[in-house]
Amino acid sequence: MATGKKQPIVQFKGIMKRFGKVVAVEKMDFDIEEGSLVTLLGPSGCGKTTLLRMVAGLEEPTEGDIFIKGVRINDTPIHKRNLGMIFQNYALFPHKTIFENVAFGLKYRDVPKEDVTQKVTRALEMVRLPGVENRMPSQLSGGQQQRIAMARAIVIEPDVLLMDEPLSALDENLREEMRREVDNLQQMLGVTTIFVTHDQREALSMSDKILVMKDGRKQQEGPPEVVYNEPTNHFVADFLGHSNFIKGEVVAVDDQHVDVRIETGDVLFAENKGGFSKGDAVEMIVRAQRFDAFPMEEFEPTEGLNHFEGRIKDRSYMGGEVSYFIELGNNREIHVISMMRTRIYNLGEAVSVQVAPHHCHLIALE
Ligand SMILES: Nc1ncnc2c1ncn2[C@@H]1O[C@H](COP(=O)(O)OP(=O)(O)OP(=O)(O)O)[C@@H](O)[C@H]1O
Ligand SMILES: [Mg+2]
Repeated sequence: MATGKKQPIVQFKGIMKRFGKVVAVEKMDFDIEEGSLVTLLGPSGCGKTTLLRMVAGLEEPTEGDIFIKGVRINDTPIHKRNLGMIFQNYALFPHKTIFENVAFGLKYRDVPKEDVTQKVTRALEMVRLPGVENRMPSQLSGGQQQRIAMARAIVIEPDVLLMDEPLSALDENLREEMRREVDNLQQMLGVTTIFVTHDQREALSMSDKILVMKDGRKQQEGPPEVVYNEPTNHFVADFLGHSNFIKGEVVAVDDQHVDVRIETGDVLFAENKGGFSKGDAVEMIVRAQRFDAFPMEEFEPTEGLNHFEGRIKDRSYMGGEVSYFIELGNNREIHVISMMRTRIYNLGEAVSVQVAPHHCHLIALE
């Protein structure tokens, strides 16, 4: 294609889903590009599963349209949508062999018998479990069973792969491993994937694009680094990562900086990305990892950075890093996660804190 931009393969246009009085999904417009991995991220009950079930054909939209490859599919029955699905509890058929489980999706697709064997073998190779055709699901571990579920979903060569919290039943280590596995498989096959999770780390590490949802509404969409570094509202900043929200008022604006007087009386400056003028009430968002804390006696301020003083109020040692709550003036405190470039500070110790203006992200006070 001449434009170089990939075409959307799935499109939601004004999609809304109501269950009685409950609005599960509210006026959603969203495009998913071909070959990409998109995660639907948000707290429990925000409508992730409902959105996915509408793509799958398990739920009918109350309003709006869903398109796959440019064709409106609202009324297309499930078996005519070429989709692979993987859910939280892998739901393999316990009394069928692995071969039968994986071949299941091909049954209704008029695939010649010899091709079935070949496709199943290939799918099992893709999930790195060759040769388990004759075993029963109970003879495989949880992680292996989930890979079989993946094999069953990809064997039909789906247009879109739908995954609803597929890793949440696994323990933390296995989950990490499987996360990489899903990621690799998706890239190898180049299959468009919609992945539902409420785990921000999962979303950040895997996605080409994240759709952050709350109460059925889209909060923000974008690549992980944009959603993480440039959250458009308080909810998104709070949901992803450890954020400090510092209220203040814009006291000056020039080409480069927006100066904000915060509640301690200190004036901090943020990079000027436009949109703010003197007198605006703002929230300054700073990630806990972006602050650097220094021992008072050694501190030499770096020009061009914000710096202020505080006192260690609380600390927790977390192995590779230390989490501090630092008390500023006027009863305000900030959360700082320090990679221990110096030493561990004592409770009550006075420290100097520094942060670069480009790590101070401003949003309008809601
Ligand atoms: N069949 C249903 N009947 C009535 N209400 C429903 C139904 N399915 C979902 N809901 C409601 O719709 C809202 C969205 O539910 P959904 O399952 O999509 O959330 P979710 O984001 O997947 O949550 P979780 O992370 O807990 O899986 C919730 O308020 C839920 O109670
Ligand atoms: Mg769900």
